[in-house]
Amino acid sequence: MLVLGIESSCDETGLALYDTQQGLRAHALYSQVKMHEEYGGVVPELASRDHIRRAIPLLEQVFAESGARREDIDAIAYTQGPGLAGALLVGSSIACGLGLALDKPVLGVHHLEGHLLSPLLASDPPAFPFIALLVSGGHTQLMRVDGVGRYTMLGETLDDAAGEAFDKSAKLLGLGYPGGPAISRLAEFGDPDAYKLPRPMLHSKNLDFSFSGLKTAVLTVVKNHGDANLCEQDKANIARGFVDAIVDVLTAKCMNALKETGLKRLVIAGGVGANRQLRESLNAAAAKRRYKVYYPELEFCTDNGAMIAFAGAMRLQIDPTAAKKDYAFNV
Ligand code: KG4
Ligand code: ZN
Repeated sequence: MLVLGIESSCDETGLALYDTQQGLRAHALYSQVKMHEEYGGVVPELASRDHIRRAIPLLEQVFAESGARREDIDAIAYTQGPGLAGALLVGSSIACGLGLALDKPVLGVHHLEGHLLSPLLASDPPAFPFIALLVSGGHTQLMRVDGVGRYTMLGETLDDAAGEAFDKSAKLLGLGYPGGPAISRLAEFGDPDAYKLPRPMLHSKNLDFSFSGLKTAVLTVVKNHGDANLCEQDKANIARGFVDAIVDVLTAKCMNALKETGLKRLVIAGGVGANRQLRESLNAAAAKRRYKVYYPELEFCTDNGAMIAFAGAMRLQIDPTAAKKDYAFNV
């Protein structure tokens, strides 16, 4: 079965062809990050318009690269949500238009399921069941995953998502957008003892998270300095304090989830999963307890079409009627 995947929920246009026999046959991505950078965040109207510009050339690219013909595809999977409405509408319209023209069924995929299953695209994929930590710009969730579609929520953020905390704290330090990679790089030069920032809910009895207090702590430190007086070393020290705090909380909650469920495999998905300090901390904590941690390939941590094509194909393997020739789509 050959599935075309289309991702357009935020600021990345992703197209991919996933074959259940041959694996990923082609994928193409265009990131709008540069365009949104000057505004300090994603501008929804600009995002939608850029998806319109990029999607068809990327579609042509994946067909050319894979050697597949349009009529070879069995279904078209598109990101149904969550995401920016206008941006989602571009991907779903293209999926439905193409489906109608080629007489192929379409299916809407939950964006988070795409992220959640993306580590299964790696060369050494985890077996079910596993614990998944989903850390993206919009979500922070801990889940027990017993199979495709068999997800049990164990805990989630009560306020900001981990990626959001990275981005907002980076903004407070005057770093660019998206702030995650920037604050992470700067933290490498910081003194770990300069600022001990709070680790919200580290010792709570549940598996929920809260990051807005950590962001406020960064704001307080910055204000106490007087914005203009922050030198590069101060910024690096604050970045280090922030990264150490958030990584500690994420690591501890993952270890608690594994301990509570008795599972041995941990899967990390979503943009923050690309974070080097988080990976190091999780690997060290897991090694001590004989757990194994699985990550998506770096290019599939952030939004991409491959994860949507893959999640669509997995859904269709379970239920071939999940894709329909019903082009009255919704997002
Ligand atoms: O999964 P994703 O691409 O989009 C959403 O579905 O939200 O995640 C984007 C988030 C952003 O907040 C970005 O700052 C963060 O992932 N991110 C990182 C890193 N790379 C991306 N955060 C920390 N360290 C990184 N290396
Ligand atoms: Zn995402």
